[in-house]
Amino acid sequence: MAMTAASRASEDAGQTDSERSPFARLTELLAPYKPGKPLIALSLGEPQHPVPGFVGDVLARHIAEFGRYPIARGIEPFRTTAAAWLSTRFRLPRPVDPDSEILVLNGSREGLFFAALTAARSVGNRKGRPAILMPNPFYPAYGAGARAAGCEQIFLPTTRQNGFLPDLDALDEATLARTVAFYIASPANPQGAVATPDYFARLKRLADRFGFMIFSDECYSEIYTREAPSSALECAGPDFSKVVAFQSLSKRSNLPGMRVGFAAGDRNFLGLFHELRNVAAPQVPVPLQHVAIAAYGDEAHVEENRRLYRMKFDSADQILGSRYGYRRPDGGFCVWLDVSAHGGDEAATVKLYRDAGVRVVPGSYLARRQVDGFNPGAGYIRLALVADSATTAEALHRLVDVLD
Ligand SMILES: Cc1ncc(COP(=O)(O)O)c(C=O)c1O
Repeated sequence: MAMTAASRASEDAGQTDSERSPFARLTELLAPYKPGKPLIALSLGEPQHPVPGFVGDVLARHIAEFGRYPIARGIEPFRTTAAAWLSTRFRLPRPVDPDSEILVLNGSREGLFFAALTAARSVGNRKGRPAILMPNPFYPAYGAGARAAGCEQIFLPTTRQNGFLPDLDALDEATLARTVAFYIASPANPQGAVATPDYFARLKRLADRFGFMIFSDECYSEIYTREAPSSALECAGPDFSKVVAFQSLSKRSNLPGMRVGFAAGDRNFLGLFHELRNVAAPQVPVPLQHVAIAAYGDEAHVEENRRLYRMKFDSADQILGSRYGYRRPDGGFCVWLDVSAHGGDEAATVKLYRDAGVRVVPGSYLARRQVDGFNPGAGYIRLALVADSATTAEALHRLVDVLD
């Protein structure tokens, strides 16, 4: 279990730029240029498939409940529905208890952020400076949470060589002994890698042995074109201890603006998390929880969603072939292309915008530079296939024309 200092990122390397929003940096990068063709934005991972048809009716029926302050843990019917959905969707060791093992979230982002604060306070004494581990590239809320919690951020490179998931065998015991929490995203953003049950089981053994929390970001779990991804909860044992999964309706139900998700798992952790949330976290308006109940009760719109993404990945398979190291991801809706032979990620991003009118994100903006100077996102660009099929195909054709 040896990990050299150079093989992982330090919070000190490249801190200033990489802590900023990737999208603010992208806007600055492209500011001097004009799109060469009508703009197609594949930069933001904001779903653009239709909002489910039932949303308006449910909202209208519950409109008066905007007149109440929502309770922090979520209304009982929401928690019951979320627990039932988890049991139907995943092979859980036992059903999740809606009273003690589910908390509603205002989207998964705030939950992922606030969880770090609770972990830093609740996980027992660490041997050395408390640390929070996360993949690199990573969703920025993990890093922001770790910083706010006063923990060292340790970035675990996710590369083609390790299947785009943190290499658990590369973690040294001294690091694990001071680990407070480990963020894992499956399906991963940006590469779409999916953790197997065996991977989750190995991670859980480490969490049990070293006493840290696993925060499993599963907000893309319903977006896949072949096999349904597993949850870390499946391998969490009969009491789900040390594991909290984060779910969201943003990607599953095309409701990113509604801001509803939930956390499920370790009841001891969730009890403390609730105490913090009760005084500090954003509540979820009750009418929106009713919409969420309807959304978790309906799989037809989710299947339709997957069909639309599948069509787009079918055309990506055809148009991109094996160019730029492309392979269809196991989950999520992003494409992660190696453009290191095409001038690198920033140059390719500028070229695509200027010559093709296609806006993508440089991979280095989504990752942190390591102490040895290596940024695991450098050389890659991320495309979010969120537009309609025809627009997506047009963007991919333009991309190949310009880069080839
Ligand atoms: C990996 C990952 N986690 C979490 C989120 C947060 O999503 P939300 O707060 O809408 O649930 C996103 C959003 O893009 C994401 O890509």
